[in-house]
Amino acid sequence: MAEPLTLLHLSDIHFGLEDRAALAGVKSAILRLRPAAVLITGDLTMRARHREFAAARQWIGALDVPVTVEVGNHDMPYFNPWERFTDPYRRFLELQAVLEKPLELPGISVIPLLTAVRAQWRWPWSEGLVSKRALAATLAAIDRVSSGNRVLVTAHHPLIEHGPRGQRLTIGGAAAMAALAGRGVEAVLTGHVHDPFDLVADTANGPLRMIGAGTLSKRIRSTPASYNELSITPDGITVAVRNFQNVPTFDMQLQAVPRDALPPRESGEPIAPIGAVPEVDPPVH
Ligand SMILES: [Fe+2]
Ligand SMILES: [Fe+2]
Repeated sequence: MAEPLTLLHLSDIHFGLEDRAALAGVKSAILRLRPAAVLITGDLTMRARHREFAAARQWIGALDVPVTVEVGNHDMPYFNPWERFTDPYRRFLELQAVLEKPLELPGISVIPLLTAVRAQWRWPWSEGLVSKRALAATLAAIDRVSSGNRVLVTAHHPLIEHGPRGQRLTIGGAAAMAALAGRGVEAVLTGHVHDPFDLVADTANGPLRMIGAGTLSKRIRSTPASYNELSITPDGITVAVRNFQNVPTFDMQLQAVPRDALPPRESGEPIAPIGAVPEVDPPVH
């Protein structure tokens, strides 16, 4: 039987407030496992500062494996609105080559979906939004996969995530889930929540797996720093949540996407209660 394909799913490193010991552990895991690719689902930096991007470029640039990086809400210029609107990805510099980059791997295609926006008609702008344009680009990329590969989609924000008063946090997310399920996507990999999970959501077009990676920053929510190790065989995907305190995978994973997936502020405000898996809304036309 063929060897499983190994992918490492990292998220929310937040350079500037990164957990250096955890990152060193990730680097040695990459050297040891030689994964087929490293998928980083956004929030590379804390405040999109130049020095934070420099650290991100140095760390990612030293990885000797294929990489794709999603844009997170923390990765667009924060203190420079002009740059945020006119050239939001300029600070990625050479990392632009791996930004929102599709990957063709043996048996698996990784297709990005942009959920972080430079502005939107609500506050905060940090919450997810799947624009018609972004979804169309992702669906077109899926349709171009001609190899018969199974498809994984990477995004920053969980596509189904409800706020404390039940409002949908990721606008267009449920419709996107339904569209992706309709295309036979095997799983949607995301970050932003800072806690891992591995769930199946019902959509109008059938079930779709949602896999979340925790954080590799010091901005932890309810679980220690971690990353996901995905082992892919013809039978499916197994997710192991690797962490540095030997917490078993099941104990690391949320059993539902939190009602408010925003990490607590620095003031240490309490963590929002975990709600039930929300129902999927009907597609938006
Ligand atoms: Fe984050
Ligand atoms: Fe985020």
